[in-house]
Amino acid sequence: MQTWVPFIPESASTVSGRVDALYFYLSGVTVFFALLIGGVVTFFVIRYRRRSPYEVPRPIAGSHALETVWSVIPFVIAMSFFVWGARLYFIQYRPPQDAQEIYVVGKQWMWKFQHSTGQREINELHVPVGRKIKLIMTSEDVIHDVFIPAFRIKTDVVPGRYSSQWFEATRPGRFHLFCAEYCGMNHSGMGGWVIVMEPKDYDIWLSGASGSQSPATAGQQLFQTLGCASCHGSNGEGGRGPALQGLFNSQVQLTSGGPVRADESYLRESIVNPQAKIVAGYGPIMPTFQGVVTEEQLVQLVAFVKSLGSNAAAPGSPGSAPNASQSSPAPAAAGPKPAAAATPKAK
Ligand code: CUA
Repeated sequence: MQTWVPFIPESASTVSGRVDALYFYLSGVTVFFALLIGGVVTFFVIRYRRRSPYEVPRPIAGSHALETVWSVIPFVIAMSFFVWGARLYFIQYRPPQDAQEIYVVGKQWMWKFQHSTGQREINELHVPVGRKIKLIMTSEDVIHDVFIPAFRIKTDVVPGRYSSQWFEATRPGRFHLFCAEYCGMNHSGMGGWVIVMEPKDYDIWLSGASGSQSPATAGQQLFQTLGCASCHGSNGEGGRGPALQGLFNSQVQLTSGGPVRADESYLRESIVNPQAKIVAGYGPIMPTFQGVVTEEQLVQLVAFVKSLGSNAAAPGSPGSAPNASQSSPAPAAAGPKPAAAATPKAK
């Protein structure tokens, strides 16, 4: 499509064609009505011009038929924008369960990426073609925004919370990555490249130059060194603090009432601001880790807790690391069962 339409970025994801189609529909409707109204105005100006200084126009009575037509047609057109746009929105803002997760931390003025195997990159993101990728994103300082025009995706990256975005690249290549939220002096330089590779090349790239730990394994070590284990149990089985095994994506009952879903943002908040949402049956005894751990360490702790959700049988073994990427498909119902199974083992 970009070959004949100027200013349209190249198209390289499963949603980009659909975004373009909606965009062209909006543009087409706009151009059609601009020409129609302009043409009619011009025609009426000439056809009904004032022909003599003493001319008095005929009185006009209302027309219900005409008013109904010019109300109903715009309503139907406006609703078509809404329905089409909402369907696209739901596709784009609901990451598929089986997506491969990549953590993204934005800071003035660079993008830091970490793959589930531990591979890190700055201002470059390698992804395989034809696989669903979910970006879990946060910021260390101010609001940034991940914008990849070729994939037609753009999402704010906000300090203090996780936002997510997903895509599936359709062809190999190098595509521009931008920061699309003014974030200070070098905002315009805060960009990079997404490198889409054939899956087998990606697997080779991912296996090479390793040596860094997976986020889940690093999080497990932090869990020990920060003393979390003294309350949550050395394998997250619980104690003075709530159990962490099987916690991710489950419903948590709070002392303040209503259950909340233990998603990434809940886990993060419970580390930096433990008093905000206290689990029913526990006291407000946990200290805050605000300022003690960096955003990247928070990502690692969250990844560790997620790894407990899917693999409670052997949460402490290094073998749990590869499962971190598979933690999200585990249905919430699967959570409590492995946790219960692990409890007798811990005693
Ligand atoms: Cu980061 Cu603009």
